[in-house]
Amino acid sequence: DSFVVAVVGATGAVGREMLKTLEARKFPVSKIVPLASSRSAGSEVEFNGEKVIVQELTEDSFEGIDLALFSAGGAVSEEYAPLAARSGCVVVDNSSTWRMDDQCPLVVPEVNPDDLDWHKGIIANPNCSTIQMVVPLKPIHDAAKITRIVVSTYQAVAGGGQKAMDEMTTQVRQMFNFDLESIEPKVMPYRIAFNCLPQIDVFLENDYTKEEMKMVHETHKIFGDDSFGVSPTAVRVPVYIGHSESVNIETEKKMTAAECRALLSQAPGVRVLDNPAEKIYPMPIEAVDEDDTFVGRIREDNTVENGLNMWICADNLRKGAALNAVQIAEELVKRDLVRVP
Ligand code: A2P
Repeated sequence: DSFVVAVVGATGAVGREMLKTLEARKFPVSKIVPLASSRSAGSEVEFNGEKVIVQELTEDSFEGIDLALFSAGGAVSEEYAPLAARSGCVVVDNSSTWRMDDQCPLVVPEVNPDDLDWHKGIIANPNCSTIQMVVPLKPIHDAAKITRIVVSTYQAVAGGGQKAMDEMTTQVRQMFNFDLESIEPKVMPYRIAFNCLPQIDVFLENDYTKEEMKMVHETHKIFGDDSFGVSPTAVRVPVYIGHSESVNIETEKKMTAAECRALLSQAPGVRVLDNPAEKIYPMPIEAVDEDDTFVGRIREDNTVENGLNMWICADNLRKGAALNAVQIAEELVKRDLVRVP
């Protein structure tokens, strides 16, 4: 079987990665349809060595399309994902719009693939920071039952899209030209060059940001378990690609650092890089262009009875977005679920 696949937002940072990932993993594509706004309609993208013309996204775009991967922002997903599903096209959506909707599974294939079985046409891809946290925490939760998570993120600029990456480049140039006066943050709230911003997305009434609360709600939904607390701080750092996280957990059952290392080295999608004596630990520059989620700096937290600290890195455009979406699509194929019930 092979499928007519659309990528909505095909010219964006995640959309381009989606095309690359479909190609690299040899997803059964009979025809690829790259969609974007009128701004870039008519431009070309490459797929399997061939140039394909980008088309403008319209209400009629989904006729004859089996599967669409969306990454064109929340507003586009809100309007077009239901239209696509209504015309029989299964949607894997990377925006936050449908993630907490009861009718939409929120899936990380290593963690809760069975949730795909009840999809009704729209499947949500979780937030990048949530994905790379739940991949290694799932086997720990199964073995020792997590009772609390405290997480601080160090998130790359690519999470804000191509415009955010371009903004950092411009600012770095301006800094090196001693031209601080010209720096004009547009996509990010303040200067990101040589800085850290403890704000990603908007602030909510509880003074947490929307990005932080995504990590709370999405983790509970993916695990199908809200018995534990999640306490997040999300920070944008001047890294182009690759999110990092400092994660502290408490568990019901004791797990030593050695046991955790052994468990994670068997876990799907996880690679343990943890040898302090040799200065081996994950870093975003090593995680870029890799599929795995890297875990290191695993150590016991002796300030509580059963605590562990760890450091997690992943390519936020890949496992955090495009790869996870394509893995969802692969799992749909495997389960014969590329159809709207
Ligand atoms: P375009 O290139 O036409 O602006 P990023 O996250 O890197 O900023 O990319 C966003 C992606 O979403 C781009 O491919 C962009 O296309 C696309 N996009 C943004 N707004 C719309 C829209 N209203 N309709 C269709 N595609 C859109």
